[in-house]
Formats: sequence, structure tokens, C-alpha cells
Amino acid sequence: AGPCDIYSSGGTPCVAAHSTTRALYSAYTGPLYQVKRGSDGATTTISPLSSGVANAAAQDSFCAGTTCLITIIYDQSGRGNHLTQAPPGGFNGPESNGYDNLASAIGAPVTLNGQKAYGVFISPGTGYRNNAASGTAKGDAAEGMYAVLDGTHYNGACCFDYGNAETSSRDTGNGHMEAIYYGDSTVWGTGSGNGPWIMADLENGLFSGSAVHNNAGDPSISYRFVTAAVKGQPNQWAIRGGNSASGSLSTFYNGARPSASGYNPMSKEGAIILGIGGDNSNGAQGTFYEGVMTSGYPSDATENSVQANIVAAKYAVTSLTSGPALTTGSSVSLRATTACCTTRYITHSGSTVNTQVVSSSSATALKQQASWTVRAGLGNSGCFSFESKDTPGSYIRHNNFVLLLNANDGSKQFAEDATFCPQAGLNGQGSSLRAWGYPTRYFRHYDNVLYVASNGGVHTFDATGSFNDDVSFVISASFA
Ligand code: AHR
Ligand code: AHR
Repeated sequence: AGPCDIYSSGGTPCVAAHSTTRALYSAYTGPLYQVKRGSDGATTTISPLSSGVANAAAQDSFCAGTTCLITIIYDQSGRGNHLTQAPPGGFNGPESNGYDNLASAIGAPVTLNGQKAYGVFISPGTGYRNNAASGTAKGDAAEGMYAVLDGTHYNGACCFDYGNAETSSRDTGNGHMEAIYYGDSTVWGTGSGNGPWIMADLENGLFSGSAVHNNAGDPSISYRFVTAAVKGQPNQWAIRGGNSASGSLSTFYNGARPSASGYNPMSKEGAIILGIGGDNSNGAQGTFYEGVMTSGYPSDATENSVQANIVAAKYAVTSLTSGPALTTGSSVSLRATTACCTTRYITHSGSTVNTQVVSSSSATALKQQASWTVRAGLGNSGCFSFESKDTPGSYIRHNNFVLLLNANDGSKQFAEDATFCPQAGLNGQGSSLRAWGYPTRYFRHYDNVLYVASNGGVHTFDATGSFNDDVSFVISASFA
């Protein structure tokens, strides 16, 4: 059985079922998601193998030598409640016409029972939505939902959500949402410790219980794979959570609606969001693997069976990198491969990261500027950071998508901005260095300055022309 078979048996059927990793009904053989590739704009759908796990190999072959975005996350419930690129609302997204960004198809690799699959890696600016969903709860009607998330990928911005939101993409008032939130925002509610927490986004508030602010019963939770569940019915709701890889769910809150006006009764509107707030607030980050929304208030017993099903799916981590191996502690230089520039290497001039012509006869200072010590990724040890040879303690990081050489300030933001995941070079040479936190973006030289660029986008440096060449670098032993 799949999670939605279990919800059906419990009398609270799925009305939306989304996953890029697996079928959520044992009999589901339709599409899980659609990807679009950068080389020619073609799309393909990815479906489950006979095991129920997504056919990631089909994606890998379709996307070979180019970039791919997740364009549609299909609804497996049969109601057509698919998720697509979120439109502008109370806030604009960063894409043209105010749309949100789409997720990279390769940002969140995992295995299920040993078979590779990809989750949905939501960077700030990324979001999916369906403002015309059918069958989802409206008004004060009962519903439940769960999601499997990456408990190590979060931030404090509004709002990494999955669930029920406004059909207008605008904040229409308290009680107009009921969605799972995951992160360490302290703007509204908090639980115990420093977060991250599972909370409920009920609009104009992230709630951890009945009190408007802190509820000590809602613990910080950061397993690598987190099961998060929220459910609501007239004047009652609950937050539950646990480790998706083992054990059972705990109840973090179960009781009355929040003690503020507008939340009892609720005024749910029935749209579905992923990765954003109800008003298209899009500063949050997180990773989504699977999730559903139900009709009716699921019993704890039903949810416990769903958790057992998730554990049995055996989510596990897998490598974030490919291509030529990098060795931590080694010193490297990185040579451009675009025809214009094959004698140019990644260097720095002060805090600017650029390319310059470097050779064995260059001055020592320039050789040092072209030399980088490979470190374990400051933000994720499965990837790497690049420390300046001549300015120890300073690392290549991106800021507003421009690469800079900055001193490590010890912050989580810096660590994440300084973490890059090598993969086989997109033009077939060397390596391409993907920004861990923005996996649509790669080290790119553009007019001899380094950026993290996407293959198409609103910035000049996102130009599609010569993208594959500009993002491919041959990494060798350093000059200095
Ligand atoms: O409730 C928190 C957030 O407040 C909602 O997601 C958003 O619509 C509003 O800005
Ligand atoms: O480079 C993109 C983002 O810009 C970085 O993550 C952040 O530091 C800055 O806001």
C-alpha cells in the first residue's frame, strides 16, 4: 500500500498527492513530475518504476549535458491538482512577470530502498502553486496533510510551506490558510529551542500551538528526513512529526484553535502551495520529497500507518557530486574552457572573483591569486568550499549571485553561500560547480567576472549563449 491507500482505508482520502520520489498509491503508474531541459526547451515526464520509485535514470539521460528544471509536480489523486510555477501575488517572484523560480531537477538527490530519486530543492525565490484546486478543504472543513522534508535545509524567512492557501496568492486575512511550515522563523510563533520547528501557517501567523507566540511543546526537530503533519477541523487542530527514516510520530500539539481572532472558524480557500507563503512570500528555503492533503480529519492511527509506510520506503542520502574527484586539503587552480578564454583561470583581485591569464611564468602574487585550497563544504560536507591561498580564512561565496572573496563570518548564510557541488562539466570538459543553495546556478565567467548563473534568467549573466562552456572548468593542481 502507499500513503494514500492508507488514508483511503481510514476514511480520509487524499485529494492531492505530490511526490517526485515515488508513487503514493500502490497502483499509481502515471507521471510523477515533468522536467524541462535548458538545451532545447524540451520536456519529459518522469514516472515510477515497478518498485514505485521514480525513474531517475530517465531524468539523468534526458538532462545529460544540460540543465533541467522541475516544471510540473503531478497530483496522483486523480483530481488534477498539479503544482506548477507560482504566479505573482502579494509579492512578486524573481522570474520575469513576477513568477517564482522553478526548482533544479538535481538539487536534492536521495535513495529510496537503494534506488536513486530526486526531491524538490526550494531555494529562496522558488515556489509552486495551484490556485484552482478541486476537492481541498474550504471554510472550516476538516483536512489533514503530511510532508517528508529535509530537516537540514531551512531558513528563517517566510515561508517554506506545503498545504492550503489563498486562491488569489494574496493575504486575505487570518484563517485563510492551513499549511505545514518548516523552518526557524521567529517572526510569529516558535517552539522550544532554536528551531527549526514544524508549525502551521494559518495566515498572518506561524503557529506552534494555541498561544500566539511560544509553545514549549513544539520541539526543535532536524532529522535529515523529517515527517511533518498538520491537521485541522472545527476548533481543533494538531501538529505531529518524527524521523522519516525510523520510529513513530509524536504529537507536538493537539487542541483548540489559536487564541487570536479569525482562526475559529477557519476560512480556508483551498489553493495549494509549495515552498512559499500564502501571499507568495518567497524568501524561504527547504526540500520537499513527498506530501499529501486529505479530505476529512485523519486519525492518529491512520497517520501512524502512513509514517510506517514512509519508514519502509527507506529514504537515505546519496552523493551530491559527480565528475572529477576533488580532495579536501589539496590546492587547485580552475581553468576556463570557453574558446575565448582557455588560458584564463579563476583568480581574485581583492574581493572580486574574476578570470585572468595565468601561466607557470606569471608573477608569484598572480599565481597565488589563482590558487585555492579545497575544503569540505562549510554549509554541507557533501560538497566543497574554496579557500583563498593568499588570504586564508577567506572563501569564494556568492552574494546577490555575484561571486566574491570574503572572510568567513561564521554565519549559516555565509557557510551556505560558500558551498559548491562539483558535477561533470556541462560541456564535457572538467567540472561544473553548482551552488549548493541555488542548484539551478553554477560558477560562470561572464565578461571575465565570476557569478553563479542559471541557464536563462533575468540577469545579464544568466544568458543561455555559451552557458555550458562558461560553466565548465578544468580543475588541476594549483599554480602556487
Ligand atoms: O502566516 C505567515 C505568512 O504571512 C503567510 O504565509 C503570508 O501569506 C503572510 O505574509
Ligand atoms: O547570492 C544569492 C543570495 O544573495 C545569497 O544567498 C545571499 O547571501 C544574498 O542575499
